[in-house]
Amino acid sequence: MTIPEPNGVHAAWLPPEAFRAIGSRRTLVCGDGLLADTVRAEVSWACARHGGGLTDEPADLVLALSTARPLPAAAARLAGREEPGEQGFVLARHDGVTVVLADDPAGLLHGFFHLVRLGEAAFGAARPAETHRPAMRRRMVDHWDNVAVHPVMGQVERGYAGGSIFWADGAARGDLTRVRAYGRLLAACGVNAVAVNNVNVHATEAHLLTDRLGDVAAIAGELRPYGIRVHLSVGFTSPVVLGGLPTADPLDERVREWWAATTERVYETIPDFGGYVVKADSEGQPGPFAYERTHAEGAGVLADALAPFGGVVHWRAFVYNHRQDWRDRSTDRARAAYDHFQPLDGHFRDNMILQVKHGPIDFQPREPVSPVIAAMPTTRLAVEFQATQEYTGQQRHVCYLAPMWREVLDFRPWGPDGRAVADLAGDLVAVSNVGDDPYWTGHPLAQANLYAFGRLAWDPRLDPAAILDEWIDLTFAPAPEPPRGTLHALMDGSWRTYERYTAPLGVGFMVRPGHHYGPDVDGYEYTPWGTYHFADRDGVGVDRTRASGTGFTGQYPRPWSDVYESVERCPDELLLFFHHVPYGHVLHSGSTVIQHIYDTHFAGAEEVAESRRRWAEAAGRVNPALHARVRELLDEQLRSAEEWRDQVNAYFFRKSGVPDACGRRIF
Ligand code: GCU
Repeated sequence: MTIPEPNGVHAAWLPPEAFRAIGSRRTLVCGDGLLADTVRAEVSWACARHGGGLTDEPADLVLALSTARPLPAAAARLAGREEPGEQGFVLARHDGVTVVLADDPAGLLHGFFHLVRLGEAAFGAARPAETHRPAMRRRMVDHWDNVAVHPVMGQVERGYAGGSIFWADGAARGDLTRVRAYGRLLAACGVNAVAVNNVNVHATEAHLLTDRLGDVAAIAGELRPYGIRVHLSVGFTSPVVLGGLPTADPLDERVREWWAATTERVYETIPDFGGYVVKADSEGQPGPFAYERTHAEGAGVLADALAPFGGVVHWRAFVYNHRQDWRDRSTDRARAAYDHFQPLDGHFRDNMILQVKHGPIDFQPREPVSPVIAAMPTTRLAVEFQATQEYTGQQRHVCYLAPMWREVLDFRPWGPDGRAVADLAGDLVAVSNVGDDPYWTGHPLAQANLYAFGRLAWDPRLDPAAILDEWIDLTFAPAPEPPRGTLHALMDGSWRTYERYTAPLGVGFMVRPGHHYGPDVDGYEYTPWGTYHFADRDGVGVDRTRASGTGFTGQYPRPWSDVYESVERCPDELLLFFHHVPYGHVLHSGSTVIQHIYDTHFAGAEEVAESRRRWAEAAGRVNPALHARVRELLDEQLRSAEEWRDQVNAYFFRKSGVPDACGRRIF
């Protein structure tokens, strides 16, 4: 196998320099099969660059499958003492030899990339055996890529990094070298599954399941050497659209047979196929409601078809009424997923995974954790993040999302002694931020979000700041200083900075309708989308209490149902998500709501200006093309942040008539 190095494409977190520590040593790889061959190919590629080589014992580094015979002596010392388990590995260093031992080939590959991350540190002092296992079994990236260019959404829905790396102009790309390179990047941060098409399945894309399956197989073939399985988004009415049946009723025998036969053909073509992703009865996508069936019945027919082959169906919980009357105060979009799915707990098949967006609305920069995650004790769960920065600056703004994701993963719905979201989810999913842009993610610094997603899915207890430094050290090798400090300063707090200059205190939206970039405070206020802030001359926010509002707070277990219900106890950052309060309401911080709005908006824009100054100083110390790209984007971020600041401040000043206590300029 050759290591993919597509021309003109940034190496992201795998530049050749990142392999120096391994590549300059003598390494023994023991084990058979595709992924062991990948590890061997990686080692010899690294050695060709840095002077080391593949060898027999004695070696500086031993990477071995526990099933390999004979097991090298350095690995035999570990065997039987530590159980790496599925996808895991044991790492140790003794007598000057570094050893990675895995029970399965995926573990060997992950162990190899762990050594890449460690660099020289893997070859220093002796290390007692440490076992690494992924917290999430499936660490998945969902692409919202269309095969054919969609007239409104383009090639990639909510894509901010150019076209699709898989598809172009109605077909799979001819040259898939880049897909292989993508698989390599994903494996190196721990991802092991990819859905290759949009959850909104349009006419052309529907055919990926049948007559265009060969294209999916070609992509699967490129990703397989890096241990990544392919999943497919499918339309619920496929039996009608593709099979010519008069119905897609999940309880109709012909429909069941169609799904079973179609799925069997999928596995004949792609034996390690992962499964289906389904968006049903949501934003115009068809679903079981049309046949008066439940989502458990709808998902059941797909799950049954996949079960004989070990496949799974990721069924999205993103179901709500997107044709709401804004005058109707009894309907609350935040409630919808729980109201639809909580009564169905216990009715789902074992190979059905309910895929829940991390917040109850839609990937806003600040939302509470979705109450669905705590409400499905007998259902398998995937938590969905959005790496593509739809509502977080569209990859024109620096917004490092790992601190937000980590907060979600740490949230304990039953209080400090209960389990955390990270313990409740079996899968972690991110909507992809990757396209055919030379930097993969448009904004070069947005690469860190994809990297951090994979790392958190592997280990949700990792510190986002440490992941950031790890990413910087790999990406900017060989000489991460001095830009390391600058990059860290620019990125570490960037999500909070973004939060400061956009919609305040968890109220959300206030974005331009449709494309969702830039401020428009009332943009969604009188629309059918269910995303309102209810600002008037006296106050702002959504009353979601049981006492006087929509009752959404009652979807949480104690203590959070009480904390969120109480205007005194509700955390400041979520106050307007749960409560409608007067502008003079005093926050825990001591500030009033209106003064908080002014202060955070001035501060947020100023933080961006400071980032721009610091980046200008880093000129000459990072690659000039990368520096220039980030500089241009920071110019735009500052323009946009000032626009947000001035519109939001002006809006609330005009509504409330309350002047800024600091007398700053409000338009
Ligand atoms: C958001 C996004 C849509 C997407 C949807 C989803 O609403 O704006 O483009 O289709 O989420 O998650 O299905």
